[in-house]
Amino acid sequence: MRTVFLLTLTILISTSLALAVPPGRTLKFSDSPMGIVTFDGQLHKDKGNACKDCHNKDVFPKMKQGTVEITMNEIYAGKLCGTCHNGQRAFDAKTSCTRCHVKE
Ligand code: HEC
Ligand code: HEC
Ligand code: HEC
Repeated sequence: MRTVFLLTLTILISTSLALAVPPGRTLKFSDSPMGIVTFDGQLHKDKGNACKDCHNKDVFPKMKQGTVEITMNEIYAGKLCGTCHNGQRAFDAKTSCTRCHVKE
């Protein structure tokens, strides 16, 4: 009886951990030949960006990775990451490839 209880408890704890989004969350985008891009949620928050600066209908509508396909053409055109990475709100994507892309 006690074993069953402990087992249920363990399962409950591990599923709730799997669902949580930790505050220091980073997202990896690894489909580019230029190298992996790591997006650091904590860093962006600390630089004063509110959730709705990104999570609105024009930029990244959903709080879920992989719902928007990111291309450099869109970034250079001032969309997606390029909404800010244009040399005004944040460093210019056109001149600083390796601040985002890191080769293994
Ligand atoms: C600087 C831009 C930016 C800011 C600010 C931002 N996010 Fe995000 N967030 C993103 C991007 C980009 C994604 C991935 C979207 C995609 O791939 O479609 C994302 C994804 C997420 C995800 C899904 C993570 C996963 O593993 O799938 C959650 C949850 C999330 N954001 C919550 C938040 C919350 C809460 C805030 C405010 C505290 C916030 N975000 C602020 C850009 C941002
Ligand atoms: C709402 C504005 C905003 C958006 C959208 C945004 N960023 Fe940023 N990002 C910033 C600011 C502000 C900084 C810190 C200032 C700076 O370094 O120029 C920053 C810093 C960074 C850094 C740190 C670089 C370093 O050398 O310290 C990386 C990497 C980065 N952003 C990647 C991304 C990626 C990838 C996306 C799109 C998924 C994105 N950002 C979207 C505002 C934004
Ligand atoms: C603000 C961050 C950021 C900067 C700066 C940046 N990129 Fe990207 N880049 C991304 C993200 C995010 C993706 C999507 C990767 C994925 O989907 O896995 C991407 C995708 C790419 C791709 C594949 C898709 C496509 O559009 O062709 C190439 C090639 C690329 N970047 C080259 C570059 C070059 C060259 C520079 C500098 C002139 C640069 N990037 C600067 C964030 C950035």
